[in-house]
Amino acid sequence: MQIVPLADTSLAVHTRGSGIPLLLLHGFPLDHTMWSGQEPLAESLRLIVPDQRGFGGSRDALPESVEQLADDAVALLDGLHVSEPAVVCGLSMGGYVAQQIAVRHPHRVRGLVLVDTKLEADTPAGRAGRADLAAKVARLGQAVAAEAMIPNLLASSDAARGRPRRAEIEALLRRTILATPVPTIVAALAALGARPDMTDAMRGVTAPTLLVVGAEDILTPPECLERAERLMPDARLLIVPAAGHMAPLEEPETFNAALLEFLRETVGRSRVAMG
Ligand code: MLT
Repeated sequence: MQIVPLADTSLAVHTRGSGIPLLLLHGFPLDHTMWSGQEPLAESLRLIVPDQRGFGGSRDALPESVEQLADDAVALLDGLHVSEPAVVCGLSMGGYVAQQIAVRHPHRVRGLVLVDTKLEADTPAGRAGRADLAAKVARLGQAVAAEAMIPNLLASSDAARGRPRRAEIEALLRRTILATPVPTIVAALAALGARPDMTDAMRGVTAPTLLVVGAEDILTPPECLERAERLMPDARLLIVPAAGHMAPLEEPETFNAALLEFLRETVGRSRVAMG
């Protein structure tokens, strides 16, 4: 783990491998450990896996907006002296941040991977739900968030429940949520609720884009990324069977193979040789 200073805070980041940079942006309220199934990608790519502002080992400041988190990620690339465009991959909240990077800093993006996420802003009911959860977490602690969220994060079919790593995945999610500071959860819920609708902006994103969603994702169901596929100029969609809102963690082999194939097609076989 490395600590990289930014203008007003610092970020903890885990890096491995060499080659084309792949920035992996975690979901809410998680940290870099949700990408543990992507470690084999370090055989082919340079993995850059931060804890975003407020989360994991990056606790000096609170998240204020998805735009701020996007600017943090670009400042982090600068801090790591990554000058070539990166493949920017984000899950859910990380996907909101990845979209902001694609729009605010297009020259830093070689390819975009949006996972279990959506382009649309929250509905009024969604915002009210976030305010309610924030008030409960502020009063009662992180366990409320863990109990409310974990059942919705993973696929619930028999095939998914019978997966050998199921208990391990649930334990990882619970451990991470319980370790996330209460002020971070409260601040991030406000930032997520205030995020803009990206539907129009994403029509103009020309970077090759891979959209990935678990067939059983109930938080951002496949229809969300089906809509994105129709409106983005260069997007392809993968729906992962027996996966929920955490497709890369639930089905890492399928996710990793799809990501490498996408990069071989868009970036070139010679630069993404192994995997
Ligand atoms: C996430 O997984 O990052 C969250 O579900 C995002 C959200 O609450 O919109």
